[in-house]
Order: sequence, then structure tokens, then C-alpha cells
Amino acid sequence: MASMLSSHVGTGSSSNSIFAINRAKILIVISLIFTWAIASLIPRYKDSVKEAATKKYKDVVENLPALKVDWHPKIDPSLQFNSSKVALLIEGRPIPHLVPQILQMISTVPPDWRFVFIGTNKSVLSVSRSFATQYQQLNGKLDLITLPKPWKIDGKEDVYRLLTDMRFYEEFLPEAEWILKYESDSILCSNSGDSVDDWLDLDWAGAPRHVNDKFAGNGGLSIRRVSTIKRVLKFQSRINDTEPEDEWFGKRLAVMPGVSIATGAQEDHFSVEDIYHEKPMGYHAREGGDRLADDVWKDPARRQKTFEWCPELAIIMPMKLERTRCDGDNKQGEIIGGLTEEEKKI
Ligand SMILES: *[C@@H]1O[C@H](CO)[C@@H](O)[C@H](O)[C@H]1NC(C)=O
Ligand SMILES: *[C@@H]1O[C@H](CO)[C@@H](O)[C@H](O)[C@H]1NC(C)=O
Ligand SMILES: *[C@@H]1O[C@H](CO)[C@@H](O)[C@H](O)[C@H]1NC(C)=O
Repeated sequence: MASMLSSHVGTGSSSNSIFAINRAKILIVISLIFTWAIASLIPRYKDSVKEAATKKYKDVVENLPALKVDWHPKIDPSLQFNSSKVALLIEGRPIPHLVPQILQMISTVPPDWRFVFIGTNKSVLSVSRSFATQYQQLNGKLDLITLPKPWKIDGKEDVYRLLTDMRFYEEFLPEAEWILKYESDSILCSNSGDSVDDWLDLDWAGAPRHVNDKFAGNGGLSIRRVSTIKRVLKFQSRINDTEPEDEWFGKRLAVMPGVSIATGAQEDHFSVEDIYHEKPMGYHAREGGDRLADDVWKDPARRQKTFEWCPELAIIMPMKLERTRCDGDNKQGEIIGGLTEEEKKI
């Protein structure tokens, strides 16, 4: 640099034209270049922070098999959606109804929400095989994710640990402010006039566990505000192998100042799980029907009303035809008369 400078100065001093190069001009040029260089570093520095935040996320998003569509290649399709709203399903088992369920949720949740599916190799493969989900992926609506090691989602306890770990929100949901968490046994009803967006001003809303529950917090179908979750995680950590994450959060949120949570009496129409309510926005049918609450499901007239209101329940619940009922079935889970001791032996 120094030798280049002196040779240029040498040429400059021998000429008097306006293009003449002298020491002052060179210094101006150098200082300009220097300023530009510094200035161009500033936005890049900002970008690099943002990039770092999203890089980890991009690393885990599954890449698509070859699928061609003729959308404008220069438009990032994910910009159509509001990245602060994420509908989240975490499921490690390749359950056959995941695809229709995700598609049904996509059509019921307001259109600006994004969808994230976190699964195992098996469950992600099973979801990504469908053309319909590939289309949603390509359209920027749906991301399929397998978490890198040491994260795992092999059992409920793994998922509880995930959801109570600050790093999970920072690394995999970097832009989310609202999470609609649903499970493989949750569904929203398209007959409902309510919208998930109606609950955005609460920090947590879910299904009440009993009548007049002070905290409607059942997590199976729930909406959560991420900044509030992070506030809890900043000063509290869950002990492994203790209570489920929704109960753990509930106890803390209920006593934190400035937090607004749904109470059972106000919010019984958000989601129904243990307590019957007519025409809710959604249901969490625990384990697809294996551990259903009597208050909601036992009475056949109630049940019929429920299925008429929310026929989508058939996607997530095992069903059989009315005509295949056994004789003596009282439609409340018992067979009247039943089998004689002799018949049971056969
Ligand atoms: C995303 O949704 C929230 C809540 O409705 C809203 O406040 C925010 O302005 C939206 N962001 C964009 C970029 O539309
Ligand atoms: C899932 O797939 C990835 C990449 O194909 C592989 O590296 C990883 O070991 C697989 N994980 C399991 C648990 O099989
Ligand atoms: C709790 O579980 C996590 C993840 O499996 C593990 O990293 C951590 O060490 C455990 N904490 C304790 C106190 O055992």
C-alpha cells in the first residue's frame, strides 16, 4: 500500500490537469473507501446476528424431494405469513392421521399462521410423503423438523423437557410470539365462529380441568405467549421426571404479576377436554379416545351433538359404524346383559 501510494503521488506531482493525482486527493479517496468499508460492515453485522438466529433453524428444516411449482422464484413464499404466530405439533410416532389432521388445522387456523411439525425421522417421513404437505412446505406454510441430538421426543417426558427449555424457543422458534400447541389428538372445529386470534391477548389459554377452574391451562390444545414463557424460564427450571409441562407452567403463571391467563369460567369455549361445553372452538380428545372424560363423552345425546358440531373429530378418533354395535350396548360403554360366564370362556 505504501509503495503504491508513493508511486501515485510521484505521477500526480508531475501533472497540473484537474485529473492530477496528488497527496490530498489520494487521502480523500482512501478515507472515502475506508468510510464505505466501515459503513458496509454495519448492516452486515446486524444481518449476521439475524442469520445466526435463523441458521440453526434452517439447518433442521427438512429439505423437499424434487417438487416443481411455477411460483415466482424470487419471492420468498414464507413472507406471506406472520412469523410470530406458529401452530406447533410435536409427534414422534408416524400416526396415519397426521396428514389429514395437519391439513384440517391449516384450513381452520387463520391464514397468516405458520405451521411447524417437529417429529422423528419416521414421523417426518410419514408426513412428508403426501403431496398435500409437500405443497404446503413449498408454499412456506409448513416446516417439518427433526431435532438434532441431544434433543429427543421419544416420550412425553422428553417433550416436557423440550417445552421447558429456553434453548428450544431460541433455536427452533426464533421468531414466534404465539404458539398454538396442538397434539395428535386435538382438533379445531370449522363450525365454530371463534378464531384462535381472539385469544392472543392472553398469555395462556387451554381447556379447563374442572368447572370454574381458575386456570384453563390444559396444554393439549392451547395458546401460549412465548415472551411470557421465556420470562418463566429465565428464573425457574423444571426438575426432570416431575409434573407435565402445562401444569408446571400453570402453577407459575397463575402467581406471576402482570400475566393474564384464561379462567375456566370465561374460556370454556376455547377447548374442551374434561368439562362439557356446547360448541367450543376445539377439542382435545385424550389419546384419541382411550382416556376420555365422562362429562364430555359418556352421554350418547351429548356425544351426538358433539359430533354434529365438530365432525372433524372423526379424523383423530377411532370410529366404528353404528350398525356394528353389539346387542345390549347401552351406548355408555357398557353391555347390558353382557355375556354369561359360559360365553366368556369361549
Ligand atoms: C402478526 O400478528 C400480530 C398479532 O395479530 C400483529 O400484531 C402483527 O402486526 C403481525 N405482524 C405482521 C408482520 O403482520
Ligand atoms: C435420522 O436421519 C438422519 C439423517 O438421515 C440420521 O443421521 C440420523 O441418525 C437418523 N436418526 C435416527 C434416530 O435414526
Ligand atoms: C434433565 O434432562 C436433561 C435432558 O435429558 C439433561 O440434560 C439434564 O442433565 C437433566 N437434569 C438433571 C438435573 O438431571
